[in-house]
Amino acid sequence: MRFPLAREGQNKHILAMSELLHIIREKIAAEGPISVADYMALALGHPEHGYYQKRDPLGLKGDFITSPEISQIFGEMLGVALADLWQRMGGGPISLAELGPGRGTLMADLLRATKNIRGFHESITIHMIETSPVLAHQQYLKLRDAHPRMEWLESVEELPENKIFFVANEFFDALPIRQYVMTEEGICERRIYWNDTRQTLDYVLAQPSLALAKSGSKIPPGTVMEQCPAARSVMRQLSGRIAAHGGAALLIDYGYLGEAYHDTLQAVKAHQFHPVLKDPGEADLTAHVDFPSLAAIAKESGLAIYGPVPQGLYLTRLGATLRAEMLQRNASDAQRTAIAAGLDRLISPQAMGELFKVLAVTSDHVRGMPGFE
Ligand SMILES: C[S@@+](CC[C@H](N)C(=O)[O-])C[C@H]1O[C@@H](n2cnc3c(N)ncnc32)[C@H](O)[C@@H]1O
Repeated sequence: MRFPLAREGQNKHILAMSELLHIIREKIAAEGPISVADYMALALGHPEHGYYQKRDPLGLKGDFITSPEISQIFGEMLGVALADLWQRMGGGPISLAELGPGRGTLMADLLRATKNIRGFHESITIHMIETSPVLAHQQYLKLRDAHPRMEWLESVEELPENKIFFVANEFFDALPIRQYVMTEEGICERRIYWNDTRQTLDYVLAQPSLALAKSGSKIPPGTVMEQCPAARSVMRQLSGRIAAHGGAALLIDYGYLGEAYHDTLQAVKAHQFHPVLKDPGEADLTAHVDFPSLAAIAKESGLAIYGPVPQGLYLTRLGATLRAEMLQRNASDAQRTAIAAGLDRLISPQAMGELFKVLAVTSDHVRGMPGFE
């Protein structure tokens, strides 16, 4: 989930029928109703018209705001946690890969906070994994002088086979999900078609799948279930690399902790919720992250699992409140207020402190994980 600012207005003009809607309609005409995952993949990642390909969606002028953009303390705490873990694991050369780095703010704050940790900067090589050309360019402009060994990649497959730390904030919730609905006849995939009468995209249920028809029979009809094959595949890759070469992953997202039998797909545009099937490519789409299934994948690879814990608890344990007090010491009144407000949004249960969760996995079963102790 993205965290919209509670603000009115900012709606951009949208053409009556966007290029991307044409492309989606053509695909439906050729293949029949498409899966929710296909819709999400096209709306967010179409090489030319996808949401992330064309814009910087973050901040006041964009569609939503994320933790690193709210306060520098977020990236600083993650940096201190990873540098501490690196020391506990014996130091030495290591890759540091960020998935979906947005504007590069988290990495900039992480690097600034760790520059005095002896040997850390000399030991890391940074890999920014980003599919959006617009955001990769912004990241480059922000970070080009921050570290001498930094490269941009489009996928985890391109990473070198090294000991590695992964960090990802609000990355997994952007990966395409499939949705299923329990019916009297069995489980049916929810698909999307063009409703000619209403002149809109609309949902339709596929025939119950034979493989799925008998499973989950205790779930009441009408229940929506979700799966994110893309997230599972990325998690398998991260876990495999960490298991083979050593390292850890720190994943922060909005997600659920148990079975989630409801529709979590949502769209946000200009800091307002937006109809999911309206204006593909013009609104951000996210679904809640299924943390238990990601943790189970890491466990199958033999990794140690920490959390998920609420973001507020995690940041507080790492010293976010003390850090805010330090920053406030040499600040003006206005700055002090802004620092306190930023911290409050990150850790307060009424804001992002409880909704967002942190999951850590590591190859090291002995030396613990900073922020989870
Ligand atoms: C919601 S933004 C989060 C940005 C940043 N982590 C932050 O917290 O501000 C999602 C990020 O993931 C990137 N992204 C989305 N899908 C991706 C994919 N399949 N592979 C790599 N990056 C992706 C987007 O371009 C963007 O940088």
